[in-house]
Amino acid sequence: MGVTKYTPVSKRLRRSPHVVSYWDGSQLIYENYLTQVRITALPVCTAILSLFDAWRSPQEIRALLGGYSASSVDRTVEKLRATTFLEEEGKGAATDEAFETWRGWTPTAAFFHFATKDVPYAVTPKATPREFRDWLKQHPQPPFFKHYGKTKVIKLPSDRCVPEGEFRNVLFNRRTWRSFGRQSLALEDLAVLLNLTWGVRKFGNVPSLGRLPLKTSPSAGTRHPIEAYVVPLRIKGLRQGIYHYASDRHQLECLRETPMKRRVIRYLGGQWWFGEAAAIMLMTAVLPRVAWKYRYPRAYRFVLLDAGHLCQTFCLAATWLNLAPFCTACLADTSIERDIGVDGITESVIYAAGVGCRRPLPSSPVVRAVRGASARPERSESPDLDFAAGPEIDPD
Ligand SMILES: Cc1cc2nc3c(=O)[nH]c(=O)nc-3n(C[C@H](O)[C@H](O)[C@H](O)COP(=O)(O)O)c2cc1C
Repeated sequence: MGVTKYTPVSKRLRRSPHVVSYWDGSQLIYENYLTQVRITALPVCTAILSLFDAWRSPQEIRALLGGYSASSVDRTVEKLRATTFLEEEGKGAATDEAFETWRGWTPTAAFFHFATKDVPYAVTPKATPREFRDWLKQHPQPPFFKHYGKTKVIKLPSDRCVPEGEFRNVLFNRRTWRSFGRQSLALEDLAVLLNLTWGVRKFGNVPSLGRLPLKTSPSAGTRHPIEAYVVPLRIKGLRQGIYHYASDRHQLECLRETPMKRRVIRYLGGQWWFGEAAAIMLMTAVLPRVAWKYRYPRAYRFVLLDAGHLCQTFCLAATWLNLAPFCTACLADTSIERDIGVDGITESVIYAAGVGCRRPLPSSPVVRAVRGASARPERSESPDLDFAAGPEIDPD
């Protein structure tokens, strides 16, 4: 059997500040949530790692582990370095600085956020429904509704009392769209969507904090951590690329102009049906805005909730414009962050919304009779829910 050669580490080393450990059944797991490396190790690993709470030279470590042979100490240390549980001096200074943002949120929120980045999203149109059918046989679905059996019940006025009007129609008509018309969307439509969703409506004055932006969606503590980056695919007068929406100035800041369709599909976990959309809005969170005020991990929830509010506003605004909105949280996080030019630590991608034109339906015989044979197709009234025209896709 060949003997693996280890080159003793010459630099000073420190324990990564991003290591957590937990039991999975009888196995003790060590996980670096930032690098997403996970190993199974004996509890003695904790004792070794605890020696590295400050930068340690190889000589110091050999002295501290004097009861063991130098070669076995070197080997263990090198393994911990190669698996990122120990880090070399001078390599991660920028990351350390960025992580100051997360100080009040580690390890709980940081573990969740970083350990769940870049997870593979399987687009297996045929396999997924089959897998679910098999899964269902063994595990019945939890009921969608909850009822209390023996309790007083108050019947409410009929839902027919919902006032008719535009607001009701918009609410009732919002759906997730997965197929789109080929027409380009007007820049005006995009501008309205951005303005209504992310635009600053006005400023409010809070005595202790000063002027705070107010938008159509609520934001925990008025921190408004969510930024929108626009990726136009079919917008008249706008080249494909990545643009930042400056919400206080209502303008787009061009970060790069480049063909984006294939890249967008990659960004959205391979969901090719979104490649025909007119524009994608990538939402990032500028975490220091929230962490500065709320220095406890629960505040991480606020960020996600804020993104959800904005996305619903976006979908309703797009529905109101008779367009085809959608949202997705299946994201190639690191690739998006690299292309936008954010570090993924102080500013990280959270969610994406998109919009397309509704697929034109052939004009009805009535329309053709009234307007003549050349009557333009109308915007479709509802999205494809049965996916009959395309592959079987399970909405997640
Ligand atoms: C957080 C979140 C993530 C979603 N991700 C996806 C997605 O990756 N792909 C997709 O086609 N739909 C996605 N959807 C849309 C849902 O599948 C959709 O809302 C659901 O099927 C209900 O349909 P409706 O939106 O038309 O009411 C997502 C929705 C939410 C709220």
